[in-house]
Amino acid sequence: MKFFIDTANLDQIKEAQELGVLDGVTTNPSLMAKEGITGKENIINHYKKICEIVEGDVSAEVIGTSYEDIIKEGEELAQLDNQIVVKVPMIKDGIKAIKYFSDKGIKTNCTLVFSAGQALLAAKAGATYVSPFIGRLDDISADGLNLIAEIRLIYDNYGFATEILAASVRHTMHIIDCAKIGADVMTGPLSSINGLLKHPLTDIGLEKFLADYKKGNQ
Ligand code: E4P
Repeated sequence: MKFFIDTANLDQIKEAQELGVLDGVTTNPSLMAKEGITGKENIINHYKKICEIVEGDVSAEVIGTSYEDIIKEGEELAQLDNQIVVKVPMIKDGIKAIKYFSDKGIKTNCTLVFSAGQALLAAKAGATYVSPFIGRLDDISADGLNLIAEIRLIYDNYGFATEILAASVRHTMHIIDCAKIGADVMTGPLSSINGLLKHPLTDIGLEKFLADYKKGNQ
């Protein structure tokens, strides 16, 4: 399972990278705005900085919603670095653009996916990644994890190469449940990754080991 961090915060990206388990980064316009990154030049420079920190794929989302605008913007983004994955919304023109990018060998991430039908369409168009938003489904009392399981079944039935990128991961249990189901990738906040480290018995056990060592090595 690949681990992506879902943020545009450079310090958090560095911290996850230093842990040695990071495979990539996902961003979106809201995450960029949260870091105060505005204006085309600043946004472009920020993507470049992220690509310098990590070795893996970096999703950069288009703002355009027409086929022509998505293609223009996506081609500009893809030229920045070969790590860039063009993130395209799950809309009709987005699917057409994903097919275009796929034919040209440009990596894509189909975002804002909330149903198995949408995921099937993204795979048919040749998306590199499909991003079902599990947290946002949970927020409205729908079953986000069940969507991951449905997509896994459909993709396995037909051998689609599109990777299931479980997005809108909110906490550590989401990561574990997605791993059990077989999501190819998860993208979540740094807190969800750090949460995997924690167990009280580890802390108690280490404290005892160190105390016993100290007793015998005064
Ligand atoms: C996916 O790539 C999105 O950036 C993200 O996971 C959305 O998460 P949220 O629902 O917590 O905003």
